[in-house]
Amino acid sequence: HRHLLEAADLDRDDATLVLDTAAQIESALAGREVKKLPTLRGRTVVNLFFEDSTRTRISFELAAKRLSADVINFSAKGSSVSKGESLKDTALTLEAMGADGIVVRHSASGAPHRLATWVAGSVVNAGDGTHEHPTQALLDAFTIRKRLGRLDGVRVVITGDVLHSRVARSNVRLLHTLGAEVTLVAPPTLLPVGVDSWPVTVSYDLDAVLPGADVLMMLRVQAERMNASFFPSAREYSRRYGLDADRMARLGDDAIVMHPGPMNRGMEIAADVADSPRSTIVEQVGNGVSVRMAVLYLLLGGNA
Ligand code: CP
Repeated sequence: HRHLLEAADLDRDDATLVLDTAAQIESALAGREVKKLPTLRGRTVVNLFFEDSTRTRISFELAAKRLSADVINFSAKGSSVSKGESLKDTALTLEAMGADGIVVRHSASGAPHRLATWVAGSVVNAGDGTHEHPTQALLDAFTIRKRLGRLDGVRVVITGDVLHSRVARSNVRLLHTLGAEVTLVAPPTLLPVGVDSWPVTVSYDLDAVLPGADVLMMLRVQAERMNASFFPSAREYSRRYGLDADRMARLGDDAIVMHPGPMNRGMEIAADVADSPRSTIVEQVGNGVSVRMAVLYLLLGGNA
């Protein structure tokens, strides 16, 4: 593979290789004072972010630096994009300066695919519109495998704003590839048209599905991508689809609670739930660095 554009780029062997590589990188660095490998010395990774990010941008930067690559952080704000420069011209400019890999986040679904047709280097999708966020799905799968010891047959419930969620799309695809069983729970207005053809079960009753879940993944309500017609009120949404301590108590003893972040505390997830021992939210962030190191290593390593 040259690029990672969506979860469907990975078959079961590919995805397992990424997770195994991330685990090997973690063991190689465990206990070391200097958490750095020389693998990508002399290579250049550009973080090309047209949309805001905390976790993804910083973890790709850390991942590239821990592999000894040179890293350029580009955000649209403060660049010549404000003068009207196109994605294509921006990408060709970066390539002319020697970018081997471009990590791109963009508000337009499909932007990384377009980019991949213009540049010779590797393109990694760091989230495009409502389409996909494949490295988030990989780090989520890595977290589940670490916590539960397996992915095959694991029952994952994904709850919330599925309509706007690239995290949900990538997770559904990747978890299915890896043999997990996915149930989506959302108000009908926050489910996409065409969800019937996804490899999932759909439910509107969160309380009913919780006892059978190994993993409960809460999604952020993406207020910036919706208007008032999507759900009646924040209070009503929280009552039916939010996770508070009482609702969490319906989960089995070993079940875990995930959230990709950023969270709306008090909306889709209560603060005490987010901070509880069942929550893997902070762990997911840490795992993101290892998984992104694995992705960059597999795409860019060995071709120097
Ligand atoms: N989970 C995630 O993509 O977070 P950021 O938007 O902060 O990168």
